Amino acid sequence: MRGPEVTVQIEDDARGVATQAARLFAEQAEKASAARRPIRVALSGGSTPRLMYEILASDEYRRLSWHWIEFFFGDERWVPRDHQDSNYKLAYDYLLRPLGDVIGPVFPVPTSIAEPEEAARQYEATIRRTFDTQEDKVPRFDLIFLGMGEDGHTASLFPHTAALQERSKLVTANHVDKLNTWRITLTAPVLNAAKQVLVMVAGEGKAPTLKQVLEGEYNPQEYPSQLLRQAEGKVMWLVDRAAAKLLESGAD
Ligand code: 6PG
Repeated sequence: MRGPEVTVQIEDDARGVATQAARLFAEQAEKASAARRPIRVALSGGSTPRLMYEILASDEYRRLSWHWIEFFFGDERWVPRDHQDSNYKLAYDYLLRPLGDVIGPVFPVPTSIAEPEEAARQYEATIRRTFDTQEDKVPRFDLIFLGMGEDGHTASLFPHTAALQERSKLVTANHVDKLNTWRITLTAPVLNAAKQVLVMVAGEGKAPTLKQVLEGEYNPQEYPSQLLRQAEGKVMWLVDRAAAKLLESGAD
């Protein structure tokens, strides 16, 4: 996994991870505004991203040229947008609303329609339209934020679910039996086509899984986050000391 484009950066704790992620986000935003071109970013759900959103919405970062950023979502829970489990709501409450009208366009997953498959299809169409990518091409996000669950899932690519096999759709509806729910998720080809992927992982409970994901045998059915081994762009694992404690390079 440790190819030249893969880095593992260890921070003291979850706040350190979120702070570093915010810094990297800001760097990208500054580059985009200097080049006067939009950057396309996919946000994720989870507790560390929430911290990152709070940091980004603070005075230190408000001065960024937020209007160059186009916000998408790497995955979404099958709930209305104002539901407390919604990843859109998380981003809206902690980042988008506090930033107010300085931000660029936001593309939430349409969860108010009847069928998850239709929502996935519509979201894929939105992505294709915005990126202006042809039918046979995979769009390249500038930056995708991800987390990793204790079970090794990333985005909503859960172990032993159908979405892991998806190679032609950009977005798919994934039924997660163990949660008895639908999720909408970007597929592995889209994650792996991104120019940069940033995975935030914090907490001791994730240490055994992180070790398998980064240093274990390739078995993405069991550890979907291993799919990122096929990434074409840069992958940065931003992890806290507790999550890194079993890594060969983590115990300093
Ligand atoms: C979601 C996510 C998911 C998340 C991980 C890690 O909607 O749940 O996008 O992939 O990033 O579950 O979440 P935590 O950082 O809260 O453990």
